[in-house]
Amino acid sequence: MTRRKKIYEGKAKILYEGPEPGTLIQYFKDDTTAFNGQKRAALEGKGVLNNRISEYVMTRLNTIGVQNHFIKRLNLREQLIKEVEIIPLQVICRNIAAGSLSQRFGLPEGQALPRSIIEFCLKDDKLGDPMVAEEHITAFNWASPQEIDDIMATTLRVNDFLCGLFSGVGITLVDFKLEFGRVWENDYARIILADEISPDSCRLWDTATNEKLDRDRFRRDLGNVIESYTEVARRLGIMSEMP
Ligand code: C5P
Repeated sequence: MTRRKKIYEGKAKILYEGPEPGTLIQYFKDDTTAFNGQKRAALEGKGVLNNRISEYVMTRLNTIGVQNHFIKRLNLREQLIKEVEIIPLQVICRNIAAGSLSQRFGLPEGQALPRSIIEFCLKDDKLGDPMVAEEHITAFNWASPQEIDDIMATTLRVNDFLCGLFSGVGITLVDFKLEFGRVWENDYARIILADEISPDSCRLWDTATNEKLDRDRFRRDLGNVIESYTEVARRLGIMSEMP
C-alpha cells in the first residue's frame, strides 16, 4: 500500500503528491538506465547518493540566485520540491566533446570545444529524445522565444558555477543535462530549474586521470558505478553524512 498518490514514474525517479498544494515529493530510485531505457539495472544506493548530491548542487545554485525546484531533503531518498509545469526539453550543455556529440561529428572524446555548446532534445522516450532546433521549439509551442533565452542564460550560469565547483575538487565538468519548468504566478510564468543534477545527468571526469565518475561507467560497463558516485559525494564534502 502506498502512502501517497503517485503523480509520475520515470526511469530513475518517482513523483508523489506533496504535503501542500504546489509541492511534490521527488523519490530517487536505485534504477539506472542507458540508451533510452534499453539497458537497465538496479544499483544499490544510487538513489541515496543522487538525492544527496542533487540537494547539495541545487542548494549551492540557489545561493547564487539560480532559482530551482528544490525545497528540502526529507530523508535518504526523498526531497520536497516545488511543482512545476515541466517544459518537455532536455537542455544539454557541453564543454568537452564526448558521447553523442563525439559520435555525431567524429570528434575525439576529450577534445575541448571552442566554446560551450547548448543543445535541445525533446523529452520523448518513444521517439528516443530527438534533438530539436529553436525553430521546432517555438513552432510547436514547447517554449516561447523569451523562455528559450532565459533557459540558455540560466544554463550558461549553471555551467560557469558548476565548472568552478567541480574543478575545486579535482573534477572536470564535461557536459550535463538540465530540465526546466514553469511556475505560474497569476498570468505570468517564471522558469525555474527542475529535475536533478547528479552523476546520472552529468559527465564528470577526474581531472588528474580522466577517469569517468558518472553514468558512463554503467553505459560502458566500466564497473565501480556506486564507488564513483560515492567519490563525487566525498569530494564535494558530503560523504560524512552518507549512510
Ligand atoms: O548522450 P549525450 O552525449 O547526448 O549526453 C550529454 C549529457 O546529457 C550527458 O551528461 C548525459 O549524461 C546527459 N543526458 C541525460 N539524460 C539523457 C540524455 C543525456 O542526463 N536522457
